[in-house]
Amino acid sequence: MSSRHSDARSAPAGTYDLASKNFVAESVTEDPDEFADFCRAFAMSVRPGGPLVASFMENMPTYRIGVASRWPGCPVDRAIVRRVFAPYTERLRDIRIDADPTVPDYGDTGMVLMRAVRTRQSLPTGRGTAP
Ligand SMILES: C[S@@+](CC[C@H](N)C(=O)[O-])C[C@H]1O[C@@H](n2cnc3c(N)ncnc32)[C@H](O)[C@@H]1O
Repeated sequence: MSSRHSDARSAPAGTYDLASKNFVAESVTEDPDEFADFCRAFAMSVRPGGPLVASFMENMPTYRIGVASRWPGCPVDRAIVRRVFAPYTERLRDIRIDADPTVPDYGDTGMVLMRAVRTRQSLPTGRGTAP
């Protein structure tokens, strides 16, 4: 196994045996289209049939850690996650869990967790997807 530090949107398509992503796509943009592009690049980075695992803060308006760390926020829910991944995946399963009342309230309503495998059929490339 090797590791590489780079922009996830530039990950070459069909390269990895599996991919995981936690709290990134919904916390690097406020633009739903850019969120979708990020998720597409993530899904397409694995080989056809490769497994994907991802988690998302649910309905989080902005991503903050304490008072000093502030990130963009793109509020998402189960329906949005399913819609964004549907064209590139099969066997998608998702669940949500409620917000933890013991941690600071950042406006989210919980988390969405999903797993899927990349569809085996060829798909056209597009913005955010490596050739
Ligand atoms: C809210 S943090 C989540 C960090 C970590 N995954 C976690 O669960 O604690 C968002 C992360 O996305 C990273 N990030 C922002 N833009 C990115 C990009 N284009 N490609 C890959 N990672 C990016 C940031 O560096 C940051 O570490």
